[in-house]
Amino acid sequence: MSEADERPRSPVPPWDGKALSAEFAARHDRAWTLGYESAHAPALAAKASWEGDFPSELIGMFLRNGPARHERGGQRYAHRWDGDGMIQRFILNPDGVSHLGRFVQTRKLLDEEAAGHMLYSGFGTPIDQEKPTLARIEASNPANINILRFNDEYLALWEAGQPYRVDPETLATAGRASWLEAGHPAPFSAHPKLAADGSLWNFGVDPLQDRLHLYGIGSDGTPLLQRDIIVEQIAPVHDFGMTEHFMVFLMPSVTISRSHLMAGASFAQSCHWSPQLGMRAIVVRKTDATTVEFHLPSGCLLHVANAWEEGERIYVDYLGCEDPSPLLAGWSVMAGKYRHIRGAAVTRATLDLVSGTATREALLDHDAEYPSVLPAEIAQPYRHVLCLERSKQRARDVPGFDRVALIDVKAATCRAFGFGDDWLVEEHVLVADEAAHAPRWAVGTALNLSDRVTVLSVFDTDDLASGPVAQARLPYALPLGLHGTFVRGGVA
Ligand SMILES: [Fe+2]
Repeated sequence: MSEADERPRSPVPPWDGKALSAEFAARHDRAWTLGYESAHAPALAAKASWEGDFPSELIGMFLRNGPARHERGGQRYAHRWDGDGMIQRFILNPDGVSHLGRFVQTRKLLDEEAAGHMLYSGFGTPIDQEKPTLARIEASNPANINILRFNDEYLALWEAGQPYRVDPETLATAGRASWLEAGHPAPFSAHPKLAADGSLWNFGVDPLQDRLHLYGIGSDGTPLLQRDIIVEQIAPVHDFGMTEHFMVFLMPSVTISRSHLMAGASFAQSCHWSPQLGMRAIVVRKTDATTVEFHLPSGCLLHVANAWEEGERIYVDYLGCEDPSPLLAGWSVMAGKYRHIRGAAVTRATLDLVSGTATREALLDHDAEYPSVLPAEIAQPYRHVLCLERSKQRARDVPGFDRVALIDVKAATCRAFGFGDDWLVEEHVLVADEAAHAPRWAVGTALNLSDRVTVLSVFDTDDLASGPVAQARLPYALPLGLHGTFVRGGVA
């Protein structure tokens, strides 16, 4: 028997990128497919004036990252999170909004531009059949999930590779983060947390060795923690909770098949719903990386809203769901198809360090995602989280969110503004008052499907339900992005 014959039978379902491209193009009568088209130029720039009253204390910069090139060489990716990352920068001042959009010049993008076709597997799309290694995964890094400012550097983040540094004035790609060791690829997730002392904490999942990489980096770039620990049957963890003393990892009831990865399946194709495992919570002490494990009934999640300690208890608020249904949309929308089943809800897990027990409860009966809390309230008891919500009456064959909602997690109440049926709303971020004491503003973008333009909105959170106090309409539509950040002041 030849060596090739001994390889496990590939679990990769058929993917035909050209057929998928044609299928998507044939569904252009569905207005919402606009959000899943590619950006039409390598760089976009425009100015837009305000409608309404722009609050001058919000002079600053809003940045968002997201996959913006979904096709190459006539082929279309199988999953919405595979495309090349494009940074969208909005400078907000009393005269209006200046937008600049630019692709992160990753090694992947440069290699594929030169080749004229796809070379590297994506999160969901199986393209290259080489044996996966951390170096090979790093080569496929599209830097497409988030952008964060840390240590005076702006970092375009993926979750299975290392951050790319971006110049905030030109959005030119400027190499790697200065404080990361060069030449040693390691996963670095897209949702780092900044502590009150300015230190940054993060993790990365290595599915090839069941390792969880842990990072603590001081505000000046000095390493505080660089360790990796073994986690048996490690799950695809996208986000984590940070408290004063701990990093908390809620592991969805999903396993990653190494044999499928080795057989050429993409990462997402190698993930399997495994409810029999339940949901694990792994609590890691920041000082020495010692761990305590808790068990919860089966469940799934992408994002953590916040976490904090009270005595011997750890609380984690996250967007929880019973099964992976909300995550499946990333495949179907790439074909221009959608059928909504259910979403996630703000959920609280309580971990008791004395008794070793864990409980959880959904705080609201709703369908939400993209949580944002004030940076100053991360790892602290808090009251407000901003989310995107999906109206119960939204048509089932239309994806995405149509409302921005400010949730009071103490009172379990919600104030929301509905954009309407013909909108796809993107993540909005919560911004504090000038003293950084309390939520005051919400800033974000949304895609208007009737006018085919992207609109930036500013809300006063004291009266969020009345709608935006100021809006600026770009003269074009941007592909739907993922996560972003607001920086007061920003660049000139
Ligand atoms: Fe995320």
